[in-house]
Amino acid sequence: MSKLELRRIHHGFTSKKQRVPVLTDISLHVNDGEFVSIIGPSGSGKSTLFHIIGGLITPSSGEVWLDDANVTGSKGLISYMPQQPALFPWRSIEANVALSQEVAGQSRAAALEKAREWLPKVGLGGYENELPHVLSGGMQQRVSFLRALLSPQEVMCLDEPFGSLDALTRQAMQSWLLNIWEQNKRSILFVTHSIEEALFLSDRIYVLSNKPAQVIEELVVPFERPRQEKVMTQPEFHELRQHIQSLLRQEMMS
Ligand SMILES: Nc1ncnc2c1ncn2[C@@H]1O[C@H](COP(=O)(O)OP(=O)(O)OP(=O)(O)O)[C@@H](O)[C@H]1O
Ligand SMILES: [Mg+2]
Repeated sequence: MSKLELRRIHHGFTSKKQRVPVLTDISLHVNDGEFVSIIGPSGSGKSTLFHIIGGLITPSSGEVWLDDANVTGSKGLISYMPQQPALFPWRSIEANVALSQEVAGQSRAAALEKAREWLPKVGLGGYENELPHVLSGGMQQRVSFLRALLSPQEVMCLDEPFGSLDALTRQAMQSWLLNIWEQNKRSILFVTHSIEEALFLSDRIYVLSNKPAQVIEELVVPFERPRQEKVMTQPEFHELRQHIQSLLRQEMMS
């Protein structure tokens, strides 16, 4: 089990010689085995934050800690699903799924076997040997999701993993993810635009402001585990949804 912690992250990009601040003083954490979501306006800096956690970008200032180690700028320590599926077009679907395990030191044969075992569980049985271009956007997203899921690191960062799915498939994938997570409780940091999705899945939610993003609220989600879909019909679910919606609406107006 692992704990992820971001300490006072600031970041900006330089565009046409001007520095554009994107993240302002972001501190957040994901405890051992906790499911935490980030919700915030489009363009606020969520994916940038994930690139920083994954070590793809070094922040202007601030630190990323994994348990007792400062891992700022280090790659390969977390399992990461990017917002765009980023599949290798020349690798078959099963080889794409196997990749994260191979990179982590698993033998190719074992990694492929695991990929073949799991692909049918996300509705992709029969596509094992196809190339990514044969798949729809939502199917590619599930391949990318599975790649992150089977990657062995204990902290998993998922950047809008179900954004391209239709409502029914999305709900099925949410319940499926919850089920898997409840069995082995990895630490998950999850970006979503859906307030319902965040409330249904998470232990805690961070709400971010517009760019340059800062944390405007941290909410504890009070619903019991294992969580059932019927939680969405509770008055408290509705109240929390309204609350987050009004926070985000204020950001849109500002
Ligand atoms: N490499 C880059 N160079 C310059 N600006 C960038 C770069 N990457 C991101 N940005 C800018 O940083 C801001 C935040 O982008 P980011 O992708 O992190 O937002 P986001 O919160 O993930 O948005 P969305 O919800 O739409 O995915 C945007 O204004 C974007 O244009
Ligand atoms: Mg993004």
